[in-house]
Amino acid sequence: RTSARLYHEKVIDHYERPRNVGSLPKSSVHVGTGLVGAPACGDVMKLQILVDEETGEIRDVKFKTFGCGSAIASSSLVTEKIKGMKVWDAKTAVKNTDIAKELRLPPVKLHCSMLAEDAIKSAVKDWEAKRELRQQMKAANV
Ligand code: FES
Ligand code: FES
Repeated sequence: RTSARLYHEKVIDHYERPRNVGSLPKSSVHVGTGLVGAPACGDVMKLQILVDEETGEIRDVKFKTFGCGSAIASSSLVTEKIKGMKVWDAKTAVKNTDIAKELRLPPVKLHCSMLAEDAIKSAVKDWEAKRELRQQMKAANV
């Protein structure tokens, strides 16, 4: 009973060679950071986006996942999907059910792909909050 039999090869590929692993400078005004946890298992995922202020394009994405193989594969897959996307599209573009389908995750692993969806939303929210703050400061001429 090997895990290779239980998982679809696409999961294994993303798990063994995860794309876009790492960190972006959290302090950068152009970086949004999402940090989310899965209550079911305590696993944690950090996902960061670097956004072009002018165009709203996501220029870079990095993630770190302290979690199971399905969570790592899910985050790796979504970083590939949202790179180059407009930041406002990224919020709704990735559904955990689509990730699960693409990776053929078993039902017990659905929440692992949920982690990836939550992480993107959280990263976009953080970026939006930072931008909002910048605009307020600009308006107030701080
Ligand atoms: Fe615990 Fe996936 S979050 S099994
Ligand atoms: Fe925790 Fe998959 S088991 S994220």
